[in-house]
Amino acid sequence: MRQKIVAGNWKMNNDKSETKSLIKGLNKSIKKLSLENTRVIIAPSFVNLASAIKKTKKSKIEVVSQNMHQSKSGAFTGEVSADMLTSIGIKTVIIGHSERRSIFNETDNLLAEKVNSALENDLETIFCFGELLEDRKSGNHFNIVEEQLKNVLFQLDEIAWENIILAYEPVWAIGTGETASPEQAQEMHAFIRSIIEKQYNKKVANAVSILYGGSVKPANAKEIFSKEDVDGGLIGGASLNAADFSAIIKAI
Ligand code: PGA
Repeated sequence: MRQKIVAGNWKMNNDKSETKSLIKGLNKSIKKLSLENTRVIIAPSFVNLASAIKKTKKSKIEVVSQNMHQSKSGAFTGEVSADMLTSIGIKTVIIGHSERRSIFNETDNLLAEKVNSALENDLETIFCFGELLEDRKSGNHFNIVEEQLKNVLFQLDEIAWENIILAYEPVWAIGTGETASPEQAQEMHAFIRSIIEKQYNKKVANAVSILYGGSVKPANAKEIFSKEDVDGGLIGGASLNAADFSAIIKAI
């Protein structure tokens, strides 16, 4: 079922004590919110996942992973498997963030393997995708987004979509302070729903939650979230501050 979701991607930020105090601040500020049909998610670093789970036991906050390796186990120094994540209580993983694609060279083929492995291991997947500035400038953004979805997700069975959340993140808006306008976000989200409907059917297209990501702040969240096909946000920088992140949660 389509859900409202506000997810904080902490990236490589917050050590153990910072993780603890940010969660404490968030727990306090969202305690009184009703948040019906709304999910609040944080994605701390691997090393702090277990303690974050502990600190959110009595709260509405869900703890998810920023990444995982596609293999079950083996000689992959420095990597973390789906099994390892589920064994500590993780239920959701982010896959395909633009930083994974651009800095760590993750390709659509690899991301398809990661998504398959996550789903096989009962991990819900937040799949990120979006165009570069040059694609937007040349008017190629719809093609790029369609290609990314086709290459990674359109091989899935209809039933698998129950465990997929989409995060449209135009790369030119990530960490730049430049946000897509609410109209640009709506236009792309509606397009995404239309191609899912074409590939699958209306039911799948209407049920999937599509988050917008890229410089969402307390000042612009409400307007972006007000758009019909925007079901929430994936928040980077502004999720590192309890007051800002809870203001964004309140905007949903
Ligand atoms: P930002 O990051 O909110 O700092 O732009 C978003 C993201 O990378 O998911």
